[in-house]
Amino acid sequence: MDLTIAKLRAQEILDSRGVPTVEVEMTLGCGVAASAQVPSGASTGRHEAVELRDGGARYAGKGTLRACANVEGEIARAVAGMDAAEQAVLDARLIELDGTANKGRLGGNAILGVSCAAARAVAAAAGEPLWKRLARLGGRPRLPVPMVNILSGGLHAGRQMEVQDFLAVAHGFPSYAEALRAIADIHRAAKALLDERGCVLTGVADEGGWGPILKSNEEALEVLSLAIERAGYRPLEQVSIALDIAASHFYADGVYELKSEGRRMSAGELIALYERWVERYPVRSIEDGLEQDDWEGWKELTARLGRKVQLVGDDFFTTNPARVGRGIAEGAGNSVLVKMNQIGTLTETFRVLEMARAAGWTAVVSARSGETEDSFLADLASASGAGQIKVGSVTRSERLAKYNRLLWLERAGELAWRPAERYP
Ligand code: PGA
Ligand code: ZN
Repeated sequence: MDLTIAKLRAQEILDSRGVPTVEVEMTLGCGVAASAQVPSGASTGRHEAVELRDGGARYAGKGTLRACANVEGEIARAVAGMDAAEQAVLDARLIELDGTANKGRLGGNAILGVSCAAARAVAAAAGEPLWKRLARLGGRPRLPVPMVNILSGGLHAGRQMEVQDFLAVAHGFPSYAEALRAIADIHRAAKALLDERGCVLTGVADEGGWGPILKSNEEALEVLSLAIERAGYRPLEQVSIALDIAASHFYADGVYELKSEGRRMSAGELIALYERWVERYPVRSIEDGLEQDDWEGWKELTARLGRKVQLVGDDFFTTNPARVGRGIAEGAGNSVLVKMNQIGTLTETFRVLEMARAAGWTAVVSARSGETEDSFLADLASASGAGQIKVGSVTRSERLAKYNRLLWLERAGELAWRPAERYP
């Protein structure tokens, strides 16, 4: 079978916020073609791969025509005739061709689209599911536990509360399908509780979670804890709470400004607040608890909470092997959020997942707030055996494309589900 790259096409498409992104279609020498769509974040980290945007007036500067032109022009010429099954070689070629540290010349969006389209095209040519193809790039396949957004704040919900995501992790269930059902029950119970409190809902936020106007971050924690119990589930045993604080987005000059609580806090005070939340509520995972370049603060956070709580670096690590390596060496964090477009190729994504596993860290494969209907992430999370997946809420089809795909992967019966009563 001829798996050489014969043709690349790129299309400017819209993401779940109505903002342009990139879809890449790869055709192989054997005639098989497949495509992949690239997501896009809003609360982005400083050290992420750069999305190439057109600038100018069109789409308020957010057009992706230049990125698409790079795929069809310079990249297509450089990779023509390469073996699409040699993912590491292809990705290395893309990195070298771009020539910058942050993929800013050709665009992380252009490069990731090509990297993912190659994996899908090879899977299609072999007639195998994407996860099986991806499993060959590394990993120990198993179904991931869903970490699901129920309430939203921060940049995704008009900054009503500072904490960006209040999530439910359904870990103590006999199957993925049962875990997903529990999440849907909790999502419904949360709505009923908010209604009873007379909450004016601002509708759904960017990732499909409820975006209520509440008095404080702590009130949201209370609502989510009550929702778990109202839905009939045992906190900590079956369902735990995860928080994505996204702290970099309310930080400036050494101070964390929690406007909703009328407080300005230091890193130490914020850690003390988390300690209180972990005492009072079933919180077992905290993402981006501190600012993205506060290495000393992260070490302190890890020393104080790391034995009990999963401390996930998102903006902090930006899926970057060098940053994750430093975190492991210095004891800053104990878990990594893995977003393909933060780093820009599949090979680098798998490297980060392997580093986490080797260090005994956990990993959470994550979508972006700007998503597409592509379900690639479900296969990536399963193939890598990362153990956890975070895709936003259980509403809106760009989210459900992934959660629903996992239902089919479970039903196919080849992937194990390893429920853990204790989390993480
Ligand atoms: P983003 O948010 O995709 O807007 O960066 C997701 C997250 O912070 O986990
Ligand atoms: Zn995050």
